[in-house]
Amino acid sequence: MNPFVYHAPIVPEAVIGREREAAALLEAIQEGVNATLYAPRRFGKTSLLGQVLQQAENAGMATVTVDLYGVLTRDDVAARISRAYRTLHGPIGRLLEGMLTAVGAGAQIGGTGASLSLERRVAGTEALLIDLLDLPVRLHERTGRPTVVAFDEFQSVIDVPGMDALLRSRIQHHGPAATYVFAGSEPSLLGALFNDRSRPLYGQAQPFRLGRLSADAVVQAVAARFEASNRRIEPRTLEELVITGAGHPQRTMLLAHRLWAVTPPRSQADERRWGTALTATLAQLAIEFETLWTSMGANERRVVAALAEGLSPVATRDGRQVGLKRPSSAQRAIESLSSRGVLETERGSGSRLVDPLLALWVLQLRAS
Ligand SMILES: Nc1ncnc2c1ncn2[C@@H]1O[C@H](COP(=O)(O)OP(=O)(O)OP(=O)(O)O)[C@@H](O)[C@H]1O
Ligand SMILES: [Mg+2]
Repeated sequence: MNPFVYHAPIVPEAVIGREREAAALLEAIQEGVNATLYAPRRFGKTSLLGQVLQQAENAGMATVTVDLYGVLTRDDVAARISRAYRTLHGPIGRLLEGMLTAVGAGAQIGGTGASLSLERRVAGTEALLIDLLDLPVRLHERTGRPTVVAFDEFQSVIDVPGMDALLRSRIQHHGPAATYVFAGSEPSLLGALFNDRSRPLYGQAQPFRLGRLSADAVVQAVAARFEASNRRIEPRTLEELVITGAGHPQRTMLLAHRLWAVTPPRSQADERRWGTALTATLAQLAIEFETLWTSMGANERRVVAALAEGLSPVATRDGRQVGLKRPSSAQRAIESLSSRGVLETERGSGSRLVDPLLALWVLQLRAS
């Protein structure tokens, strides 16, 4: 089986190079400090949450992960929380099953169903939501165990009016019973919830940022997985893979996956196989990139093209090379691309494309 998974959250044993991040997040959780986990799409938030929650569980805490992707209403949020608790097994799971039934979140919102029972709708979703949000307190009363509640894709609650206020009003009383991790991919949206003084969750959590993977960690892990599966990788090819992946976790794993797939057992991944793998990777991503490119305005495309070529879009001369007339229009395009997670701007060091393969694709497009 191909040892490089690129399409879903990975198991803790497969996580590369996040020792420091995992340790820091676990420490915060164990000290009862709520945390936000920020990172661009596909940088490994869900995988890291899985790893850290497993460690928290080994340390005696109960853990639950609530995926909020795409929620639009309080009903949706209630259904997601209920579903998350329902996936728990063992004595805690059985205990919670009883509590869920007691709070009225019966089978109607378990499983795949997302709607609440009529009874509860009449009684009001708010009461049910409060009961669901307070489950860690009930659990703590009965077992003495604290719960870690991870909300993944938390930026989605922006679309649910008043949800952050309701959440804040409950979790502030959860003291020793629960610690919260709020993970999300769109920095601007998550930032809007936690960094805006006028929002209820302002200052309620310590921020953690997931960056790119270090080259050393990738080199070691990729070489080891080739070896363990009876293949080798030429040092130059490995270097090329690391440079092309630019520390982007999912892109690096995708490239490694494709390279491994064209390397038969007992043989070596070399320049020729790398060429084949890279072509296959870009072909696989063509539709995604075409869709993104089509969704951009002309100045956004110009900014992306400039960054792909290593130019600075806000420098007048560089900007002109891609048809940008004014630094101010480049700046506006940069802001809109950052808010959509296409660019990231690190303090002091300008903007860069989040996805190194998008840069390659744009270069090919412009050269064709
Ligand atoms: N530390 C890591 N080591 C190895 N691969 C990783 C790591 N982090 C992420 N990946 C790769 O990225 C992919 C996506 O990981 P994951 O789903 O955890 O990211 P995410 O940030 O939650 O993504 P999304 O924004 O889509 O929810 C994985 O399938 C894996 O290929
Ligand atoms: Mg995720």
